[in-house]
Amino acid sequence: MPFCLVRADITKFSADAIVNAANSSLLGGGGVDGAIHRAAGPELLAECRLLGGCETGQAKATKGYGLGCKHIIHTVGPVWEDGEQGERELLQSCYRNSLALAESLGCKSIAFPLISAGVYGYPKREAIEVAESEARRFLEDHEMDITLVIFDKDSFEISAERFEGIRQFIDDAYAKIREDKERGRREMMGNAACFNALAAAAAVLKDEEAKPKKKGLFGRAKKTESAVPNYDACDAAEECAAEDYFSMRDESFSQALLRLIDERGMTDVEAYKRANIDRKLFSKIRSDVHYKPKKQTAVAFAVALKLDIRETEDLLSKAGYALSNSLDFDLIVRYHIVHGIYDIFEINDALFRFDQTLLGQN
Ligand code: APR
Repeated sequence: MPFCLVRADITKFSADAIVNAANSSLLGGGGVDGAIHRAAGPELLAECRLLGGCETGQAKATKGYGLGCKHIIHTVGPVWEDGEQGERELLQSCYRNSLALAESLGCKSIAFPLISAGVYGYPKREAIEVAESEARRFLEDHEMDITLVIFDKDSFEISAERFEGIRQFIDDAYAKIREDKERGRREMMGNAACFNALAAAAAVLKDEEAKPKKKGLFGRAKKTESAVPNYDACDAAEECAAEDYFSMRDESFSQALLRLIDERGMTDVEAYKRANIDRKLFSKIRSDVHYKPKKQTAVAFAVALKLDIRETEDLLSKAGYALSNSLDFDLIVRYHIVHGIYDIFEINDALFRFDQTLLGQN
């Protein structure tokens, strides 16, 4: 999954490069800077002393030492003042320069903290938006696993309007389930007499079943000791039935996906990049006609292809899934499709905020 959000302590995260939100001295400090120095050990500070500091927006690399990474990339974010002092451009430079440096070091994966969103006071929602837009920009023509590591829950915000809209959508869906259940219970009570009659009829049928039977219409031997099953006829019938069945079988998920990509005039690369799915996973789906994707992968492609609810449910069904009305994950996906929001980063922000699996997450 090219871009992922996780809630973790970055000093315990494993990636080729871990980014440190440092200050211009590069000699350590509080927050994530302090945590990284503590976890990496004193050798990190010794190497940092040789770097001669770092300008805001720039990035410099050291070894990983005690961290689970080959390189630590130290970048200095802007201190937030009022948003009119070029803070956004400087923060964008932090991500761009860190990504460029990681690529030059041959890194296949990189983990970022939310740069400047702590001591430096950058508004969290805007800080996330800059991080995601820079990751999206880089991934348009590069391949790297980029993870934004969120340390504490209140560091991660989505717009209040979106949060409330989704919350209400989920509450309404659960209210409807409760209403339907209540109505069903009442109907069930109302039909008790009919139900008892049905139960009595079923008992009669059951007795009938127990009696010995002649051969049935399709040549299948019924359960009787005396009749020797005619397996030849039975096998032939079953073989024929099986062939018909498999020839009738619907197109597979892989076939449907490739058809939909063509119908929408998209390239494979556009499809999997818009789905935030890596090339290797897409190649597996493309080369194995019976490949069964995870639900979050199937939904990611439905979003990438901008399918409506009916089309989404049809595509999911080919992988054996459905969009239920009783799971938060499904309801959040449904909310975005119903509202015509097909930006996978936005949907993943919402899923992350509601502690759900992300689209495309393995
Ligand atoms: N893992 C992941 N993220 C973390 C961790 C951690 N262990 N500790 C803190 N964070 C998060 C914070 O919650 C915040 O969202 O990192 C983000 C950045 O916060 P800071 O570490 O305060 O960094 P920043 O806002 O860029 O300020 C940099 O603070 O620590 C000093 O020396 C540093 O002077 C520099 C300034």
